Amino acid sequence: MKKLRFWKEHIEEKLQEFLEELEGPKSLIEAMKYYPLQKGKRIRPLFTVAVADSLGGNIEDAITVGCAIELIHNYSLVHDDLPCMDDDDVRRGLPTCHVKFGEAHALLAGDAILTYAFEVLSNKKNFKTLTEGEILEIIKVIAKKSGANGMVGGQVLDIESYTDIYEISVKKTGALFEACFVCGGIVSKKQGVLKDLEKIGKNVGLLFQMVDDYLDKDGFYSIKGEALKYDIKRLHKELIEETERIFSKRDEILYLINLIYERING
Ligand code: IPE
Ligand code: IPE
Ligand code: MG
Ligand code: MG
Repeated sequence: MKKLRFWKEHIEEKLQEFLEELEGPKSLIEAMKYYPLQKGKRIRPLFTVAVADSLGGNIEDAITVGCAIELIHNYSLVHDDLPCMDDDDVRRGLPTCHVKFGEAHALLAGDAILTYAFEVLSNKKNFKTLTEGEILEIIKVIAKKSGANGMVGGQVLDIESYTDIYEISVKKTGALFEACFVCGGIVSKKQGVLKDLEKIGKNVGLLFQMVDDYLDKDGFYSIKGEALKYDIKRLHKELIEETERIFSKRDEILYLINLIYERING
């Protein structure tokens, strides 16, 4: 997929550019850059850009919004790996942020990545086609989806071993995908489809988490076992139909959805 490869390169360049502009203590900045500059899949910003491209939005602006969401995703991973959370030593085949920089620095790096994402979004110079009103709307969506009733709320339910795995996943993973789809729509100035986009984003996040749990043999897998494969197949089929209904130009979105789905085959 030529377009997706091109977008991914641009997302990574832009992310690097934003991170180069950081000012502050050297040790903090080093810890802040550590996760966002690793080789992640960049699936969230790619969805943001693919949705905007499909709806006629400006690609540069979608990349900026996608980078902010990617920063938030990476902050969430820094905190998720901490000893007080999942206590993981390895991520993406490398030592986790707190293993490399110490717990206090990892905690503070996560805080500063999160606030930096909003600093990037609130700088009008970072956008070419969006009005201040649209930028404000994007900030509100991303804040809501990553906050107490979104991703952070989901993380809380997860550590409390809350039993509704569906609600945990919709919040801890789905909410950020909802933000990607809705913001792709706002960048494209397509207010009429934001509700539909939110629903597709939620289901993409759910598919993502179900496949992740199937591979890690936890979460949904602990409850459903091998039968989870059938739920995944059903959700994937539903998503493809919904995507075909909403988007007339949709090759890249379908490709990304299939990329998530095909991970169940190893
Ligand atoms: C991992 O997300 C965390 C979950 C929500 C399961 P990704 O698998 O998208 O992480 P990277 O950024 O590609 O490493
Ligand atoms: C991570 O979920 C989700 C967020 C950070 C919001 P997990 O804890 O299940 O994911 P991994 O296995 O650490 O990537
Ligand atoms: Mg976790
Ligand atoms: Mg974890």
